Amino acid sequence: MQAWVIGNWKQNPATSHDVNALMDDLLTAVTAEESTRAGTAKHCQLMIAPSCIHMAAASARLQGSSVLCAAQDISAHSATTGAYTGDCSAQQVTDAGAIWTLIGHSERRQYHQESHDLLVQKLDNGLKQNLGIVLCIGETQAQYDAEQTFDVLDEQLAVIKELLEQQANQQSGQQSAAPSDVAVTLSERLIIAYEPVWAIGTGKVPTVAEVSATHKYIKQTISSFAAPLSTVSVLYGGSVNADNADSFAADSMIDGALVGGASLKAESFLAIAEAFNRAKT
Ligand code: 13P
Repeated sequence: MQAWVIGNWKQNPATSHDVNALMDDLLTAVTAEESTRAGTAKHCQLMIAPSCIHMAAASARLQGSSVLCAAQDISAHSATTGAYTGDCSAQQVTDAGAIWTLIGHSERRQYHQESHDLLVQKLDNGLKQNLGIVLCIGETQAQYDAEQTFDVLDEQLAVIKELLEQQANQQSGQQSAAPSDVAVTLSERLIIAYEPVWAIGTGKVPTVAEVSATHKYIKQTISSFAAPLSTVSVLYGGSVNADNADSFAADSMIDGALVGGASLKAESFLAIAEAFNRAKT
């Protein structure tokens, strides 16, 4: 299975000048690595998620490279246009070069009070514009300490079940329609990123065994919604760096990484990608 390493730049870098410098470093290293590799298979797909303001410039620079571009978020209110000040729609980020979008990042849930219903709408809007969706989920420190991780994940993953039911109903007009064809489409456009909130930007990480067991649970849960979802990749995020990437990459349940801080330097980002590339042969 192909691995994914995705760089979530969050509200970084500060200026267009700094974005260009990071893109220079990234593209120089990717080009050099690809010419060394020449002909040998690559097992890791790279993607970056710049902030909305830098998306068009970053994606223009990625033209012709193997690196994909994602948005960090999309509007819940409209997939296209409308009176929603401050929002960027799925159509607009697609036009700016995004192929995928993150949704449900814990920072959006925490600072923007993103609800379950809102995320169902975002999922729906993204799919309407043929975007791939990276759905971020994960428990807080208090929930982890109270051993509520799986309960929290159940609640957060329920948006997928709801979307499947909603779409199947729209297609058939019947309440009890089997969502299998919708599920096949979704299975090709969905990635789950498990990011324990307490591991984000803290340097604290769960053990590989813990992540592995949680990913197994996520895979079982989404497969129970619809069999085609058994092929969906599940990535780990939270303080992934060049030093710990090998240990995560070695586990068969961990299909890649969603990287924050370490994605802001080409060297560490590509070292993480290389760890997954080596492990997933
Ligand atoms: P860090 O890698 O900085 O912990 O951030 C993880 C994250 O939130 C990626 O979405």
